[in-house]
Amino acid sequence: MSEPKPRTETNVLLIGSGGREHALAWRLSLDGDRVFVFPGNPGMNATPGVKTLSGDLTFEQALKHVREHRISLVVIGPEKYLFEGWVDQFQKHSIPAFGPSQQASFLEESKIRSKLFMKEWKIPTAGFEVAKSLDEALSIIDAHPRWAGYVLKLSGPALGKGVIVTGTPAEAKAAAQDFFKHRPAGIEEGMVIEERITGREVSLFYICLGEHYQFLASACDHKRLKDHDQGPNTGGMGAYSPATWLDTATRHQIEKQFVEPTLHGMNAQGTPFNGILFLGIMMTPQGPSLLEYNTRFGDPETQTFLPLLKGNFTDLLFSVASNEVHKFMQTEITHHALISVHVVKAAKGYPGLFGEAIESGQPIEIHSTSFSQVSRLFYAGVKDKNGTLITSGGRVLGVTSLGKTLDEARKHAYHDLSHARFENEHFRTDIGGDAK
Ligand code: AMP
Ligand code: GLY
Repeated sequence: MSEPKPRTETNVLLIGSGGREHALAWRLSLDGDRVFVFPGNPGMNATPGVKTLSGDLTFEQALKHVREHRISLVVIGPEKYLFEGWVDQFQKHSIPAFGPSQQASFLEESKIRSKLFMKEWKIPTAGFEVAKSLDEALSIIDAHPRWAGYVLKLSGPALGKGVIVTGTPAEAKAAAQDFFKHRPAGIEEGMVIEERITGREVSLFYICLGEHYQFLASACDHKRLKDHDQGPNTGGMGAYSPATWLDTATRHQIEKQFVEPTLHGMNAQGTPFNGILFLGIMMTPQGPSLLEYNTRFGDPETQTFLPLLKGNFTDLLFSVASNEVHKFMQTEITHHALISVHVVKAAKGYPGLFGEAIESGQPIEIHSTSFSQVSRLFYAGVKDKNGTLITSGGRVLGVTSLGKTLDEARKHAYHDLSHARFENEHFRTDIGGDAK
């Protein structure tokens, strides 16, 4: 095996602007690298070693930044740019870019193709069928009267609004009618109708290079807007990591049943997977079942688990982006034996369902000197107005805190969150409260 090439320059360009990217920028900067975030948000500039770059968010502008700032590694945050093939385009210009190729990112981009892939490679998942029209959807529902419920999923990217969980066949039919009548984005390719399953959910993150992988983290997201899982689904109102209730033996079983056949299948069909494989798993009474693949870091799970990782994270991403298997295997990531909790503060109106406006423009008051050593503040939807940060988007900011126990981490997170305030803020008070 050839010796890995030494990494001479240490300038990283990170694409994205949310809380996940703030956490990534911070973690990458800890390895001594200079991190440029395009476009980033103005809250990130207070992090030492991190600088945001402006301009139209196009590939050409990103490439210009790469050249101007002598970037040696590009890291893609949001899935949108994976689907658009930015990784492939950077690689064509001989610039190492972290993330799966456009072809490999179908695992997240298309629910139909990903479910067919699971079936082909015998990866446990809920029973399903594909509907391309309303008539097909109605007959599928009729054909499965014994399913415990029906989950309708738009195949294409639908900004988290493409999944409806229903109970009776009549409810499922009404939801299908609604989808085909209103034709939201994502319906063009059709929908997956699957059996409703039940159990606890966990997010698992693996960094992968072809058929090699390393475990990064387990985490539990809290997707509903309100306490006790009430209210509409959101991008995620908080998370904790690790999933304290998931034992190591089960995790290893998940690696054999899900991660290895996925990576093998991707290689075998000529779309090797290099990047973050994020599995959304439900622990059913019959065993783990795959709800979905994502092909990127999760938001807000990433804010939770990055502070737990020891080792040179930049080297690890670089080895994947530059396809250096030997270096990938040598760059081992280990974990602090701590628990991490991240709590999000969102603006009034979030998640903006049914056309509700999301409030912006509220000044953000920060008492950073009151923050404890075990906490970090990550910004997401913020803007600069005459030198003051104001709210500008749904999820505005979040605090991650570490503790020896979940309760200790929660206590710090909520205490420190009270030092970052804005008018009409809302947040959940029970993040990590279901972990027993
Ligand atoms: P997905 O985007 O496929 O992960 O779906 C979003 C959410 O819908 C998941 O986090 C689950 O809470 C729920 N969900 C998805 N598929 C199913 C299923 N087959 N049975 C029950 N709930 C599901
Ligand atoms: N937290 C869920 C996601 O990033 O998709």
